[in-house]
Amino acid sequence: MRFLTTTSIALAFSLHGTNADFLGSAYPPPRDLSSPQSHVQAAWSNVSAIFDDYLHESLNTTATRGLLGIENVTWSAGLFSLHDPDAGQLQYHYVAPQIANAELGTHKVDGDSIYRAASVSKLITVFAGLLTLTEADWQRSLTDIIPEFAIDVTNPHAPSWDEITPRMLATQLSGLQSIGAIGDGLLQLEAVALATNTSLADLLVISGLPQLPSNVLGPCITIDCTVPDWVASAKNPSPVFLPATAPAYSNFGFLLLGLVISRITGKPYDVLYSDTIFASLNMTSSFANAPVSEPLLSLSVVAEPPGGNLSIGWSYPDNNPTIPSGGLLSTINDLSKLGLAILNSTLMSPMMTRAWMKPATHTASLSYSVGAPWEITRYIHPSSGKVTDVYTKLGDSGAYGGLLALIPEYDAGFSFLNAYYETPIGPQTRGASALRILDHILEALVPALESQARAEATRDYIGTYIPSSDAEGNSTIVISAPNASAPGLVVQSWISNSTDMLASYFPGAPLRLQLAIPNQTPGAATSEVTFQATQFKQWKTYAAADVGPMTGFYDSDLGWLAYDGDRYGGEGLRTFRFEIDAEGCAVDVTNAGTRSTLKREERSGGDGYRRSAGRYILEGLRNV
Ligand SMILES: *[C@@H]1O[C@H](CO)[C@@H](O)[C@H](O)[C@H]1NC(C)=O
Ligand SMILES: *[C@@H]1O[C@H](CO)[C@@H](O)[C@H](O)[C@H]1NC(C)=O
Ligand SMILES: *[C@@H]1O[C@H](CO)[C@@H](O)[C@H](O)[C@H]1NC(C)=O
Ligand SMILES: *[C@@H]1O[C@H](CO)[C@@H](O)[C@H](O)[C@H]1NC(C)=O
Ligand SMILES: *[C@@H]1O[C@H](CO)[C@@H](O)[C@H](O)[C@H]1NC(C)=O
Ligand SMILES: *[C@@H]1O[C@H](CO)[C@@H](O)[C@H](O)[C@H]1NC(C)=O
Ligand SMILES: *[C@@H]1O[C@H](CO)[C@@H](O)[C@H](O)[C@H]1NC(C)=O
Ligand SMILES: *[C@@H]1O[C@H](CO)[C@@H](O)[C@H](O)[C@H]1NC(C)=O
Ligand SMILES: *[C@@H]1O[C@H](CO)[C@@H](O)[C@H](O)[C@H]1NC(C)=O
Ligand SMILES: *[C@@H]1O[C@H](CO)[C@@H](O)[C@H](O)[C@H]1NC(C)=O
Repeated sequence: MRFLTTTSIALAFSLHGTNADFLGSAYPPPRDLSSPQSHVQAAWSNVSAIFDDYLHESLNTTATRGLLGIENVTWSAGLFSLHDPDAGQLQYHYVAPQIANAELGTHKVDGDSIYRAASVSKLITVFAGLLTLTEADWQRSLTDIIPEFAIDVTNPHAPSWDEITPRMLATQLSGLQSIGAIGDGLLQLEAVALATNTSLADLLVISGLPQLPSNVLGPCITIDCTVPDWVASAKNPSPVFLPATAPAYSNFGFLLLGLVISRITGKPYDVLYSDTIFASLNMTSSFANAPVSEPLLSLSVVAEPPGGNLSIGWSYPDNNPTIPSGGLLSTINDLSKLGLAILNSTLMSPMMTRAWMKPATHTASLSYSVGAPWEITRYIHPSSGKVTDVYTKLGDSGAYGGLLALIPEYDAGFSFLNAYYETPIGPQTRGASALRILDHILEALVPALESQARAEATRDYIGTYIPSSDAEGNSTIVISAPNASAPGLVVQSWISNSTDMLASYFPGAPLRLQLAIPNQTPGAATSEVTFQATQFKQWKTYAAADVGPMTGFYDSDLGWLAYDGDRYGGEGLRTFRFEIDAEGCAVDVTNAGTRSTLKREERSGGDGYRRSAGRYILEGLRNV
């Protein structure tokens, strides 16, 4: 019944490695992140204690590694989960001296403090596009949407505007320049000349740069230029790559994507974001234009140089062209609402959400991929080598930064915002400090979510499943706890009408169950959870499997190739469908191939779990 030879399977088993099998989790998403029993709550309190040790006790320990410098950054971080509303209470806030003594805005921070979200804005821009553009719009050429790009293009190296589409802008595959005229070195040198009372000509000579005509950048050289001027300045500068060559992070591309969405919808930015997202999701503290008056100013984290001038760094001209790339403002509570709404498919279909949360391209690193505009961190669990994809969008610009992180396989994530003004001349430490804070959070959180998912699956599914009538014959299935180094509940024993199915069909390595169709995913059946059984190992790379690049096609991740190899009468012998009760506990299991339904044996005491308040509680759950 197998299409692969026993030799290739034997080879797969002969190697030692880790198991992760299909992309995604082996278990249903965890439902308890916040109770005192939860591994996630324990991990959050651990990492909070590490931050406390460094920030409030000035301790330098092995655990506080990498945190040097974060004391100057004001920040807020908080978890969220589709299945545990109280996860939103797991937050950490720190106010650095700069904000504690700020001339304007708040002097303390909490979940409702308003920060600039920097490039987290790009994610919100794509979301706004997904909610307003048609599938066909994403594939239109830019010259079709913005006809000005088809005329007066004089540079022979100018971008192929008729080949670039909104989708390429969203997936960072346009090949266009990174920032555009507003960030040009010529303007910076002009500013230096002015500030130092030097002539620009003299400055250029010592800079090794030629004199250029004053109009070389076109008519748009300030953040508040008009759209026609912006387009005129944007159309000629050469791209870096041809379209659809390599991912390259283009802020300029997102200015353009915002313009595209605004043109198609006919809405200015403040109306666009409010109409499509902020109002629908009750993100009452999120804005396209910075609040500059009370009561909102008092909730705002205004990281500013002395002088109390709101137009430096905090407030930009209304509806200016940089908003879609990096101009939105929000709170971690609002970003968590956004994260939950994406995971829950509140504003789009579950199918669209699943399709959106996929990579669009690799990067040159094996650990990071890029979506639209997801920055996908491929987290590697140190204990098992399993890979968990964390869908993020980072922000890091000027005095502000942030992150929205979604982990679809756990239906959970976290939001993060930070602020610290540093003078332009001198080291810029805020961005690097923010990443080190995030390293600590991810390294605590992701393994804890996995442990919690494993513990809940063990509690909810293990046991002996027996016939409910004589018609089933001599049949039993025993599901046992996962092996810590191999994710997945284990089919310990499987008798089908007196035949030992493991010996007959699945000899050798343990038969492990991998989550295939969760009930908790919106749109799926509400009372069934379907697993696919696998025996294959998986490694994070072919090199980790100690095989060659093509041998690795089979031997580093056989699960995705050799799945579903045993259908009988049209249904899979590897398909195990559990019916679950309202508490998420298994009631019975049906093997799709044998068509046999076996009910979970009720037990009390003695075997590790008991019925308690309508729910199986595994004794010693936290040790699982
Ligand atoms: C929390 O920290 C304690 C002490 O370092 C450690 O034993 C425990 O495993 C940690 N728990 C989690 C969930 O990280
Ligand atoms: C802790 O001390 C070591 C050397 O003693 C230093 O390299 C490291 O930067 C310090 N870490 C912090 C967080 O201060
Ligand atoms: C933090 O700020 C203080 C005061 O401005 C400064 O002396 C110190 O060097 C800063 N620390 C880091 C790591 O940047
Ligand atoms: C997710 O959506 C369902 C309806 O599909 C709703 O009942 C539930 O409250 C939502 N959960 C969250 C956290 O938004
Ligand atoms: C700027 O430099 C010029 C000569 O290069 C000098 O005459 C003028 O006083 C300077 N202005 C200021 C404000 O220093
Ligand atoms: C909207 O959000 C505000 C503040 O975050 C909250 O007080 C209010 O209850 C929310 N409204 C709804 C309908 O959820
Ligand atoms: C505030 O800063 C802006 C931009 O640098 C400048 O144009 C304006 O004159 C400043 N206003 C005050 C009151 O200093
Ligand atoms: C079980 O096997 C017996 C023969 O031993 C057969 O009569 C019966 O139909 C089988 N039951 C099922 C459910 O296949
Ligand atoms: C756990 O899995 C590993 C790898 O498959 C295996 O070597 C080990 O024997 C298993 N341990 C148990 C207790 O089953
Ligand atoms: C059920 O089948 C198993 C496996 O063939 C066998 O060991 C056991 O004796 C059978 N039990 C009964 C009651 O027939």
